[in-house]
Amino acid sequence: MTATPTSAEATHSQAYVDDRAHVFHSWSAQAALEPLVVVGAEGSRFWDDQGNRYLDFASQLVNANIGHQHPKLVAAIKEQADVLCTIAPFHANPARSEAARLICELAPGDLDMVFFTNGGAEATENAMRMARLHTGRHKVLTTYRSYHGGTAGAITMTGDPRRWASEPGTPGMVKFWGPYTYRSAFYSSDDAQECERALAHLADVLMVEGAQNIAAIVLETVVGTNGILVPPDGYLQGVRDLCDEHGIVMIADEVMAGFGRCGEWFAVDHWDVAPDLICFAKGVNSGYVPLGGVIISRRIADTFADRPYPGGLTYSGHPLACASAVASINIFKEEGIIEHARHLGTDVIGPALAEIAERHRSVGEVRGLGVFWAIELVKDRRTREPLVPYNAAGPAAAPMNELAAGCKQRGLWPFTHFNRMHVVPPITTTDEDVRAGLAIIDEALSVADAHATD
Ligand SMILES: Cc1ncc(COP(=O)(O)O)c(C=O)c1O
Repeated sequence: MTATPTSAEATHSQAYVDDRAHVFHSWSAQAALEPLVVVGAEGSRFWDDQGNRYLDFASQLVNANIGHQHPKLVAAIKEQADVLCTIAPFHANPARSEAARLICELAPGDLDMVFFTNGGAEATENAMRMARLHTGRHKVLTTYRSYHGGTAGAITMTGDPRRWASEPGTPGMVKFWGPYTYRSAFYSSDDAQECERALAHLADVLMVEGAQNIAAIVLETVVGTNGILVPPDGYLQGVRDLCDEHGIVMIADEVMAGFGRCGEWFAVDHWDVAPDLICFAKGVNSGYVPLGGVIISRRIADTFADRPYPGGLTYSGHPLACASAVASINIFKEEGIIEHARHLGTDVIGPALAEIAERHRSVGEVRGLGVFWAIELVKDRRTREPLVPYNAAGPAAAPMNELAAGCKQRGLWPFTHFNRMHVVPPITTTDEDVRAGLAIIDEALSVADAHATD
């Protein structure tokens, strides 16, 4: 059906008009949307059909790790398109084989096989399925303040309000609290105490749920959208130990935290912990072609040596996606992307955010590592009351909306969530552009300050 032309046609491009008439967008009330019509991008910038340019401080959805239109990545996709655009998952294919080998070479421990998916949700779904079949157990533990994807199992695993509309969800999922020292569920006063208490809490949950019933503990290694929650030293090792003690599969969801975001290939490398399964997507190829997957330990892969794995996808290991992953991993190596991520975190973003925290009364805490940072905003630094309530919408969210608008007016595309602004530009962003972006945030924060008390 063709929509009736509206007055919007007079002022907006055809792309905008068609979008409003026919495109149904994620997570949104459709009537309220006014999407930007993005017509191009390069490096850390993208632009719209009105000629507005934005410094991308969100890496789109924290996926464009090597920035936009990287010439070598674009060339690799074109090259693969000339050779072979699609092939069924049961064939072998050079692009897929090489992508799998390169990913396994980077992965920790005995993680040695890859099941490819089209994105993050399918990765967490399949990781959960593998853990259940490997252990013969059903329950899966996940944390509050997490996101694992929008499909049936993944949204039930999710510990944020996006789950609510899909409840009761799939059976067998239990939530626990992960560490978050600034808003500790355990009244901790420092990271060491938070680590100890969060692990004691998890051990209690295992006890009352019956550890022998639990197939997997699923964690975002560093929690992404729900706050850039960096676990205290010792926490992941503690979870690893509990999993080992009880024969539970440890699943690290690195869909957002992996592939350089935290200044390591995988965020778990920061603490030298090897999970049994790692879920990846986003940064593996910066989203140039949809791709995700599960990296599987030998022990779990062996479960399916003589027994079929009951899961699959028409596009598992899609050649265009896999060729782009190969190219992206090579770009990471050739251009020192991991080293640059560490440098940006340690020498540029960390110090600048510490200064911003000093200057603005609305900043309760800044935290992060690599190119994965949060500015947590509060009404009052002493009480830590959030600048806007948890899951605020409409007028209650106004201060954050004003802050985001202030950034956009100044040419920066921000990532905001609840009472936080995340600093997550492409990892390839230059020091100069990162500093320019942080200066814009610094200026725009005066809007948040106006809602905070001294
Ligand atoms: C940690 C984490 N897991 C899973 C997902 C779901 O990935 P996708 O949107 O590709 O399905 C996301 C998406 O933001 C994520 O951040």
